[in-house]
Parts: sequence; C-alpha cells; structure tokens
Amino acid sequence: MRRIAVVPGSFDPVTLGHLDVIERAAGLFDELHVLVVHNPGKTALLPIGRRVELLQQSIRDAGLPGNIQVASWSMGLLVDYCLEVGASVLIKGIRSQVDVAYETPMAIVNRNLAAVETVFLLPDPAHAHVSSSLVRQVAALGGDIAPYVPTAVAEFLQKAPV
Ligand code: PNS
Repeated sequence: MRRIAVVPGSFDPVTLGHLDVIERAAGLFDELHVLVVHNPGKTALLPIGRRVELLQQSIRDAGLPGNIQVASWSMGLLVDYCLEVGASVLIKGIRSQVDVAYETPMAIVNRNLAAVETVFLLPDPAHAHVSSSLVRQVAALGGDIAPYVPTAVAEFLQKAPV
C-alpha cells in the first residue's frame, strides 16, 4: 500500500522552514502532497495560484525528490482532500510549544472527522524563528527577506513589492 501524506498550510509565502519540513516528509512517505489552503483567519498577501507556483519553483530549485506534488484546496474540509487522494496522514512542522498548542486541537478534530492522523515534524532549529507572517511584515516594510525564503520568493517579492 502506498503511504500518502499531505503537508497543508497557507504558504503565504513558502519559507525555508516549510521547505525543510517538506523535504523531511518526502523522505518518509511514498507520495507527498503539499496543499495550499485558504485560511480565512489570515489576511492574504499572495493569491493562491501564485503561492502554488512559488512552491513548485522552490521545490524544483531545491532539488527535492520527485514524489512531491503541489495542489490547492478550497472546496471544504482538509480531510476531504485527504480522502480524495487516499492520504491517511497530515504533516505539520512544529517550531515551539506555541505551535503544539495551535496544532493539537486541529489534529484531534481531523482524526475524529476522518481517521486522518497528524504527524508533527521538528524542523532544523535554524528555521525556528521563521514564519510567513514575519516574512510578510519584513517585506511590507522594505526589509531583506532573502535569509528566510527560497530565492524564487525573494526575487518575486523584490520585483512585485507588497
Ligand atoms: O499555514 P497555516 O495558516 O497555519 O495553515 C492552517 C491550515 C490551512 C492548515 C488550517 O487552517 C486548516 O486546516 N484549514 C482547513 C479547514 C478545516 O478542514 N478545518 C477543520 C479541521 S481543523
């Protein structure tokens, strides 16, 4: 049986921390879906299609394995996507206890909804302070985001400042 997992998130924009988790997850599963999901609780910087493109380019540029595919989902529950593609595992990157507190209720609800388990992965501590929201803030105020994001994202946001 193929082991299929989903890495969901806003990816607005994808960061080096996300890429680290994606690479680790790709090594653990036969098939990995990186899923851009609209989070109504957050004010978006980039349209969903652009986030997908930047993820695809960043994954390609980083030479990550070929078992990764990028998609987006706005049709309903995250677990509906999992059921549609036959994924039984969600992957979340955990930077701190704050992330554990944020992710735990969602993990339990997703398990109750559709028996989809959540696996928490620890990223490289070098990325522990990196978040998309900080990147959005630094970019909006004209700071250098290159240390925190893939080159494709830094170049895109430089050309189309927010
Ligand atoms: O990168 P983010 O913004 O922290 O990602 C949050 C995300 C998209 C994973 C979360 O908002 C989510 O799971 N949305 C899907 C909606 C859903 O299925 N909710 C019910 C179960 S928690």
